Amino acid sequence: MATEIAVETQHNFIGGRWVPAASGKTFENRNPADRDEVIGLFPKSGKADVDAAVAAATKAFAGWKNTPAPRRAEVLYAAGEILKRDKEKLARLMTREMGKVLAETRGDVQEAIDMAFLAAGEGRRLFGFTTPSELPNKWAMCVRQPVGVCAFVTPWNFPMAIPAWKSMAALIAGNTIVIKPATDTPASVVALARVFEEAGLPAGVFNVVMGSGGEVGDPLVAHPDVRVVSYTGSTEVGRQISRACAPTFKRLHLEMGGKNAILVMDDADVDLAVDGSVWGAFGTTGQRCTASSRLLVHKKVYAEFLEKLVGRVEALRVGNGLDEKVDMGPCVSEKQRETVAKYVEIGKAEGAKLLCGGEKLSAGALAKGWFHAPTVFADANAKMRVACEEIFGPVTTVVPIGSLEEGIQVANSVPYGLSGSIYTQDVNTAFKAMGEFETGIFYVNSSTIGAEVHLPFGGIKDTGNGHREAGIAGLDVFTEWKSIYVDFSGKLQKAQIDTH
Ligand code: UN1
Repeated sequence: MATEIAVETQHNFIGGRWVPAASGKTFENRNPADRDEVIGLFPKSGKADVDAAVAAATKAFAGWKNTPAPRRAEVLYAAGEILKRDKEKLARLMTREMGKVLAETRGDVQEAIDMAFLAAGEGRRLFGFTTPSELPNKWAMCVRQPVGVCAFVTPWNFPMAIPAWKSMAALIAGNTIVIKPATDTPASVVALARVFEEAGLPAGVFNVVMGSGGEVGDPLVAHPDVRVVSYTGSTEVGRQISRACAPTFKRLHLEMGGKNAILVMDDADVDLAVDGSVWGAFGTTGQRCTASSRLLVHKKVYAEFLEKLVGRVEALRVGNGLDEKVDMGPCVSEKQRETVAKYVEIGKAEGAKLLCGGEKLSAGALAKGWFHAPTVFADANAKMRVACEEIFGPVTTVVPIGSLEEGIQVANSVPYGLSGSIYTQDVNTAFKAMGEFETGIFYVNSSTIGAEVHLPFGGIKDTGNGHREAGIAGLDVFTEWKSIYVDFSGKLQKAQIDTH
């Protein structure tokens, strides 16, 4: 039996020291499956704490930047090993902190482990390139250099994986970091900081400041010494951050909303498509940017699909994610559950057919948490709000479609462009959809969730601003290209002029 991580009063991590907020105030973090359980008290920080953390990260930059990348990698390998050692404890803490079931929080920690080893491997690559010069006795090459202090504003749905995607890539490239975790999941980021501390990361390279978006996030992204901002969260907040970063020309990486469609064609293996839809729609209680929140189902298999889907959804066991028999945990907070309840009313009022769920759950022990029944709307049209707005909860909406062309058109009719999927047995249909879906991620005969760390993660349209994270693409956010010319001819050689 794994021991629980005891979380009481926690501090910010600034310049290698654990320090309370300058205000001396704290905020509370409770278990969304059991409001009686306080996970801990966390520093209610403000601008003074942000300034101290950015100063620490600025001071640490030169030393970390000049540490050879293979040496930086050793710290990340060590962090990966510590994460492996503590995987179970960290997963249990995360389930208590944000509610998703243990199998998924183990997956979340595993994603951080995978990212640690991927990034560490880059310590002996970080490839640039050499290329011929147009002039004799002259060499040309291109190298990656770190950008500087990075500010991360991270979400609560992947409390360790997403901070790890950002941090590991930034660290191997030689940057320093100030992170503001979501107020619903500070403990998981405190745990990540402890991992880095134990792994031997030098003081000031990774700093954590906890508190609200207004009090910590705003001064952090606006800070003149911050050179990169990486944010994962809603499109609405992404827009505000974009404006805040513009005056100082900060590099900005945004990872925002999704309304991801699974397209189930008439030749699909319907059971497989139902498996993928249930997993994609209700995994993480539907609180993924990649959630399968739209199911576009061909009319020829529509009745069969719905019957099987509803049977499966009604059988989902909802409860405390620490119970291994539970399939789906609570919403992360009262606010999130209210958003879900609001969309259930919107869906009903728009005339979508409520097939199952549609209510808050409060029987027995569920009364202590923010539980909501897994909910399916059907017979919707693509313009209904439940079919095109991000709900971020356990609700999916089924839309009947008549052809591949219509399916693709409906899939592309939303402002978002993160993930998509098709179920078909026809290779031509699959390739057509692969090419036409307006998304950054696409799956064939698999759900819209389940990205692996060595491929670029991100979306187009209102989901992103042209960057990707994870994979090698993640390095692009955290490095500047420097082009270097070495002339060893001993004379002045003029490019473009001496060549013709
Ligand atoms: C998110 O949805 O916010 O692909 C991140 C997935 C996970 C990461 C999701 N590996 O679903």
